[in-house]
Amino acid sequence: MTKIAVIVGSAREGSYNQALARLAAARLEAHGAEVTALDLAALDLPIYSEALEKEAFPSGALALKQHLVAQDGVLFVSPEYNGSVPALLKNAIDWASRPTGDENLIALTAFRGKAAAIMSASVSPFGGLRGLTHLRQILTTIQMVVIPEQVLVPLAHTGFGGDGELKEPLPASLVDMTTARLVKVAAALAA
Ligand SMILES: Cc1cc2nc3c(=O)[nH]c(=O)nc-3n(C[C@H](O)[C@H](O)[C@H](O)COP(=O)(O)O)c2cc1C
Repeated sequence: MTKIAVIVGSAREGSYNQALARLAAARLEAHGAEVTALDLAALDLPIYSEALEKEAFPSGALALKQHLVAQDGVLFVSPEYNGSVPALLKNAIDWASRPTGDENLIALTAFRGKAAAIMSASVSPFGGLRGLTHLRQILTTIQMVVIPEQVLVPLAHTGFGGDGELKEPLPASLVDMTTARLVKVAAALAA
């Protein structure tokens, strides 16, 4: 079964991106993936520093990396902070990008050659587009294969119904299209 991890760039209670991630995870499962939702806040990652890394690789960072190594693909769902990727998410990516054991500097075993998809919910009318543009570039730098489809949920505070579903048909159908493609590409790359 194709394994997909879902990572959310907001740990806020009532987060719109977590709501979007729950919908997307259900669609990933419907398309045949085995899904795990990673809780970045629970990993309690310190801000990356080389000194810390040399002293002892943090256990949360190692757990994150080992989990990602075992995945075929990753869905990133994140808000945009000041036009870019929130520190919570960037810091997690930075830790998981680091070599461990005998790996060389650019082994990138958590990410290299794996499929990725990106989604964002934002309270602005632009839906976090600038953040996703940066995120796409970061994921490409760590050698993920980022699928062209992406999902933006603008005006997220009005975007979800009481049942947690998206009110607008366009983002809802994009969630379905994007998750379907992610599972397909992740499976093909893993074959
Ligand atoms: C530090 C900070 C910076 C933000 N910058 C942006 C921004 O650049 N663009 C935007 O659309 N929303 C921005 N927002 C608002 C977020 O869209 C809003 O807080 C959203 O609810 C965050 O996602 P969440 O609900 O998943 O936590 C910012 C929020 C914070 C806290």
